[in-house]
Amino acid sequence: MALNHQHLEKIEKHAGLLGVLIAVMVSLGGLAEITPLFVKAHTVEPAPGIKPYGALRLAGKDIYVREGCYQCHSQMIRTLRFETQRYGAYSVANESVYDRPFQWGSKRTGPDLARIGGKYSDDWQRQHLLRPRSLMPDSNMPNYPWLELAKLDIADIQARMRTLRFLGDPYTDADIAAAPAQLQGKYEIDALIAYLQGLGVDNVPATTSDLPAVPGDKPGAPAPQPNDFESKRNLR
Ligand code: HEC
Repeated sequence: MALNHQHLEKIEKHAGLLGVLIAVMVSLGGLAEITPLFVKAHTVEPAPGIKPYGALRLAGKDIYVREGCYQCHSQMIRTLRFETQRYGAYSVANESVYDRPFQWGSKRTGPDLARIGGKYSDDWQRQHLLRPRSLMPDSNMPNYPWLELAKLDIADIQARMRTLRFLGDPYTDADIAAAPAQLQGKYEIDALIAYLQGLGVDNVPATTSDLPAVPGDKPGAPAPQPNDFESKRNLR
């Protein structure tokens, strides 16, 4: 045997040597885990029907991140029936491949927003963002009055899209060329509303039969729906 008892004893009795060998083993393990992620650009492939954000929604997503909406809202519906009944089908990783940084979050002062798209009208969203308490008297969500005052910055949208393309998002030259026109004359609130209205609509697996059942459900339990507003209404 190459490593007999004596060798092992030598290692055990020399803290320095033991430390070096532990560092070597941990590094090897770490490299084995991390290296494949560098070689393969996308470890999670986008689900069918999932496209990168259009220019307006991309600008909206950046405003969502800038304003820190994620500090009160998650975008991750868990695999629990009371969650899927309230919010719709549970979230899967390949829905958010184009979210950089992803917005799954863990803090829920307000409701999950993963499938908020289409639940309310654009007008409702606008009023709610400007004055949440005019619609929900008990809400502790802040007012965001500046969103309707600031025009979108159209100067850097193309640079943002090129950067995302560099990272692997499939934007075409035509997408990037058309981007500034889509933002022209729009305000930050328009972009944020467009972003919200597409959540769970633009980025949902193509058919509901693709949606997995909730683990632990009894056979015959109703299939999760991407946007099951009817059952949500009573639970709100
Ligand atoms: C301090 C915590 C907090 C922050 C920050 C916050 N919200 Fe909220 N949000 C809430 C609460 C609480 C509710 C539930 C009451 C209500 O509807 O106002 C809510 C509700 C919502 C709803 C309606 C959800 C539903 O299913 O009815 C939307 C949409 C929303 N927030 C979007 C946003 C966006 C976009 C931002 C960032 C610009 C944001 N929120 C920032 C606390 C917050």
